[in-house]
Parts: sequence; structure tokens; C-alpha cells
Amino acid sequence: MDVYVVAGNPIAHSKSPAIHKRFSEQSNQKMHYGRLQPLLDEFASAAKSFFAAGGKGMNVTVPFKLDAQELADELTPRAKLAGAVNTLRMENGKIFGDNTDGAGLARDLLAQGIEIKGARILLLGAGGAARGVLGPLLEQSPKELIIANRSNTKAEELVQLFGELAIAHQVALQSVTLGYLEDAGKTASPFDLIINATAAGLSDKSPISDVAASHIFIPQSFAYDMVYGKVTMFMQQALHRGSRVSDGLGMLVEQAADAFLIWRGAHLNEVIDPRAVLAELR
Ligand code: ATR
Repeated sequence: MDVYVVAGNPIAHSKSPAIHKRFSEQSNQKMHYGRLQPLLDEFASAAKSFFAAGGKGMNVTVPFKLDAQELADELTPRAKLAGAVNTLRMENGKIFGDNTDGAGLARDLLAQGIEIKGARILLLGAGGAARGVLGPLLEQSPKELIIANRSNTKAEELVQLFGELAIAHQVALQSVTLGYLEDAGKTASPFDLIINATAAGLSDKSPISDVAASHIFIPQSFAYDMVYGKVTMFMQQALHRGSRVSDGLGMLVEQAADAFLIWRGAHLNEVIDPRAVLAELR
């Protein structure tokens, strides 16, 4: 039987095994999907052992996505641009690295009726999570995308890195500091879509102040937090202003669906039902 795992540290609470079990049941695939928790400095050796023993594929989560990128023999263009790998596939003795996070977010947004094309988007954060979703967002031609981060250096690096892609899709791409969002004006005006890709939610904080929130959110806005499992402070700020909100559980399920199709075949796209799996998880 083909064997797959999700690798992370910690990994005990990962929902990926349950999600992939449902996909394999929906599509009649005989496969086993487990968990792997390498020591923090032993990802490469753990992954090599897994594939040497016949493992077919691996999902990679915090904190190993960069290690996975280094390990892969070949990367897809989107994995290169994302600077991280969340899906590894073994084929003919070679390890292929891909990244399905951004596509997962885009699909979850579309499934929730959010139009990215022509939208004014505010992306909060400039770390790995933000970088991972920038490519797929820009490819859908929003009107404008502003990256806001505590320190402008990292946000500006992303603007440089994704500048060409933004021009190709006619997106006005720029960076600001989080503090700048408190100044009402052109930048701190309402957005159609505000995505929280910072780690602030994990420690029960919001990356933006209430003053900034009052400029950014209006009832027509949609606020998306990549964190899942709770209503974060960021989501509460948006709800308070009448905006629609979503956590990141749909993104988790959709990125898993893309990984499943990479491993088991794109033709199964017609058979698996990520939205049903999401409803079951909720
Ligand atoms: P990840 O790979 O999950 O994105 P990361 O690379 O450490 O993790 O990046 C975390 C992001 O969350 C960064 O943009 C970070 O801001 P800085 O670049 O200024 O460090 C942001 N972040 C973390 N905690 C935050 C907080 N309490 N408020 C605002 N931003 C925060």
C-alpha cells in the first residue's frame, strides 16, 4: 500500500491525516497517511529515510517548509517563488517539491464567493506564510495589493521579489508598515479583502490596532485569518465593523486537496469533495 505522511514539529494535532483519509475514501484509493515528527535539526535525514523505505509522498508543515525546499531534487516554479515546499512527491528515485498553500487559499476564497480579480487587497505579514500565498493571489489580477508588516524591510523585499509578476498581471503592488495603517488616507482606506498572514493570532493578538481596523474594515470587506480553530482578535475586530470573516480551515483542506491530486492523479479532481470534508471538520 502506498504510504504518505505529514511531517512537522509538533505534529500530534495535525488534521491532515483525517483530511486525507476522507479524500482516499471518496476516491477509493488504497493508501496510508500517517504523522512524522522529526527532531528540529533532523528533517532531512528523517525525510530521506522515509523515502528510502518506499514512502510516496510527504506534506510538510511548520517549521520544516524551508528544509523541504532544500531537500527537493526539483522544484515547481510556484514552490521556487513561494520560497517553501509543503508537498514532496517521490518518483523514479527523485524528490519533487511543490507548494499548494497559495492555490489552497485562492480556492477557499473563491468557494466563499470572494472575487480576487479587481479587488483591493491588504496582506498583513511578510514572513513565509505571506510569501507562500502572494504568487497565486497576484495571478488572479487584483487591482491593488498592499503588504503591511511591522518592519518595512521584509515587506519591501517581497515587493521586489514579486514585482515582475505584479506588472505582468497589472497589479499595483506596494509595501507599508503596520503603523502606517493608522493614518487615514489613501492607504488606510477600506479594503475588499484583508488577509492576516502574521503569527500574531497564535498569541491572541491582532497585528493591527483598533484605530487601523476602523479605517480598513467596512461591512463589504472580507477578513481572512490563516489561523484556524478559533475566532482570533483580528476576526473580532472585523466582525465588530460588520465585515464577513473566515478562519483558515478551508485553506488547510484545499491545500491538502491539491497535494492529494499531485500524488494520486489530477483526474480525481472530479471525485473528491473538499467542501464536504471541510463541512465534516467543522
Ligand atoms: P511564517 O512563516 O508563519 O509567516 P515568520 O516567517 O516568522 O512565520 O513570519 C511571521 C510574520 O508575522 C512576520 O511578518 C512577523 O512580522 P516581522 O517581520 O515584523 O517579525 C509577523 N508577526 C509576528 N507576530 C506579530 C505580532 N504580534 N504583530 C504583528 N506582526 C507579527
